[in-house]
Amino acid sequence: MFNDPSSALSLLLSRRSGKARDMIGPGPDAAELDLILRAATRVPDHGKLNPWRLVVIPQEERAAFGAMLCDAYRAERPDAGRLEIEAMDSFAKVAPLMIALLSTPVESSKIPLWEQQMSVGAVAMQLLNAAHALGFVGNWLTGWPSFNRAVAESLGARGAEDRVAGFFFFGTAAKPLEERPRPEIAQVVSTWPVVAR
Ligand SMILES: Cc1cc2nc3c(=O)[nH]c(=O)nc-3n(C[C@H](O)[C@H](O)[C@H](O)COP(=O)(O)O)c2cc1C
Repeated sequence: MFNDPSSALSLLLSRRSGKARDMIGPGPDAAELDLILRAATRVPDHGKLNPWRLVVIPQEERAAFGAMLCDAYRAERPDAGRLEIEAMDSFAKVAPLMIALLSTPVESSKIPLWEQQMSVGAVAMQLLNAAHALGFVGNWLTGWPSFNRAVAESLGARGAEDRVAGFFFFGTAAKPLEERPRPEIAQVVSTWPVVAR
């Protein structure tokens, strides 16, 4: 029976997201960020392709990043109202640490695209778990910025299949985190032969 609150398994069983907009400092420092990035890039990756890229958006560039988001939003939606534009700007400014994660599959590889894309999900999960292990809270958000080509290109997307997997925000929770309902194991796990759902 596991009962060590400092164990890796305890960390996995206690991780939950916080809301990016409720995060305050401190966020990970440079050494902690390095640990998070090392954990995040140690993932299953068929063919050793590294089919993902991470882009740290530092605090001193957040205003410029927000301006880029607002420009891209206006270009796609010329009739956008003030509140929509403000939401883009706020997205770029919340939380002490912001990292964009991109799926950058190697299209010439014989490894199927789906396998390469699944590896990105593993990177995402490692980011969240590593930050949690260091005592920080994280939040994986997509939203409009993850689906616009100009934003993706500003983050380094080049190939036709390159896309933004999301933005990861990290910091300290300003208030106690809410738990969300988790599935009963029997709801999502079965034993073969599987009966029709
Ligand atoms: C690909 C992906 C994109 C997500 N994008 C959003 C989002 O844009 N807004 C949001 O409120 N939650 C989003 N979520 C959900 C949160 O990241 C998070 O999983 C959830 O709020 C709480 O689950 P957790 O406590 O197990 O992390 C997204 C999740 C995934 C997997």
